[in-house]
Amino acid sequence: MDLNKKRHRKRTIRAHVWGALTTLSMMVSQADEISFARDILPILSDNCFYCHGPDANHREGDLRLDQKEDALASRDGKAAIQPGNPEESLVVQRLRTQDPDDLMPPPDSNKALTEEEIDKLEQWITSGADWGRHWSFEPPVRPPCPLTPGILSMHSSNVDCNGKDTHSPSHRRGTLC
Ligand code: HEC
Repeated sequence: MDLNKKRHRKRTIRAHVWGALTTLSMMVSQADEISFARDILPILSDNCFYCHGPDANHREGDLRLDQKEDALASRDGKAAIQPGNPEESLVVQRLRTQDPDDLMPPPDSNKALTEEEIDKLEQWITSGADWGRHWSFEPPVRPPCPLTPGILSMHSSNVDCNGKDTHSPSHRRGTLC
């Protein structure tokens, strides 16, 4: 192999290595960013929504953490979540307190957050508590239904993705697709 070819090969290898490293570092920085749906919502829904969620029968402290408006609303001058200000956020205070009477989730609920989960919540609030596009559950993406074009054009919107007529009473009783 002549010298030129050798150099070229070396450069190509170097370019590949750089490419791989750049991709890797992009992946790492993406993983560092806190995503509400991926990192925060599961913590809240596992540990808090039972008492601070949609179910009015279990709701405690008149606080909903599944609704952005309520989480940000002023409660005697403080909010459960104050974007950019974790120290002032009631949620962080209640997660970090040493007082078992104030601690959330309450010790007798048998729920508890790990240090790592509390850090994540705090980091998320510090960075502005971004809820993403939807505050409430981001719906899981459903794969497209295997609709046959014939059924689709005949019934258009009255047909769900199993080809059932959504106007029939039996369908209304059943689960919506
Ligand atoms: C088993 C029920 C239960 C669970 C689970 C629970 N809480 Fe609570 N929470 C309460 C009750 C009861 C109160 C009202 C009494 C009080 O202030 O301690 C309350 C009050 C609060 C308050 C104070 C509201 C105010 O107006 O001052 C915050 C903040 C809070 N909870 C955050 C959380 C967070 C965050 C989680 C999950 C990590 C959580 N709670 C899980 C029962 C629960």
